[in-house]
Amino acid sequence: MDNDEALIFGIGAVASNGMLGLAGWLPWDIPEELAYFENMVAGAALVIGRLTYESMDVVPVDSFVVSHRSDLVLRAGCTRVSTVEEGLLAALGTGKRVFVIGGASVYAAAWPYCHRFYLTRIEQAFDGDVLFPAEIPLDTWPVHEESFVSLREHKTGRDVVCRFLEYRQPNPRPLPALDTVTVVL
Ligand SMILES: NC(=O)c1ccc[n+]([C@@H]2O[C@H](COP(=O)([O-])OP(=O)(O)OC[C@H]3O[C@@H](n4cnc5c(N)ncnc54)[C@H](OP(=O)(O)O)[C@@H]3O)[C@@H](O)[C@H]2O)c1
Repeated sequence: MDNDEALIFGIGAVASNGMLGLAGWLPWDIPEELAYFENMVAGAALVIGRLTYESMDVVPVDSFVVSHRSDLVLRAGCTRVSTVEEGLLAALGTGKRVFVIGGASVYAAAWPYCHRFYLTRIEQAFDGDVLFPAEIPLDTWPVHEESFVSLREHKTGRDVVCRFLEYRQPNPRPLPALDTVTVVL
């Protein structure tokens, strides 16, 4: 499959001690890494966990927020879905590229379907309260592209090495057929 619009991408960043989040936001303050994320997902349809959605100041249209809460009120252009699979199917239905942007619980449910995973490995330990899911077998997926750069981390005032990796999953799981999933729109 070489049509990007039919692919599912994961994207995230993780510290060397596995930390992903702290107090509802990121454990670090690295503007260039955040800009990389924003650039990568620009114009895409997003699948987002409810807590990550609530942490975001700006949420683009065609964002699908995973939540069990049927009464959840969302911003314009956002749609609640009750499972990750519903979110992925609805996001694919937009015809845009699809990015799963976390948090941890959404990565944990979505990784089997991801064709590619863009992971920034921040080569420093950070305090945090949410870990990147250990069960995602990224280390068994081939790395298609890799680059690194030293960037200033503004909480510590120190430079940290950020490695930008693109993993490709050899055999992503097919999504369940549309008629076996109720998409809440
Ligand atoms: N470093 C990174 O790249 C990165 C990326 C994203 C987020 N983060 C950080 O990660 C933290 C949030 O992650 P998190 O794992 O705690 O929360 P999350 O995944 O953003 O949201 C969790 C909520 O999403 C809903 N949900 C998740 N999986 C579901 C499923 N399979 N079916 C139905 N609903 C589901 C539930 O909402 P309800 O309770 O409403 O049912 C659940 O409480 C924050 O600190 C955030 O800043 C970091």
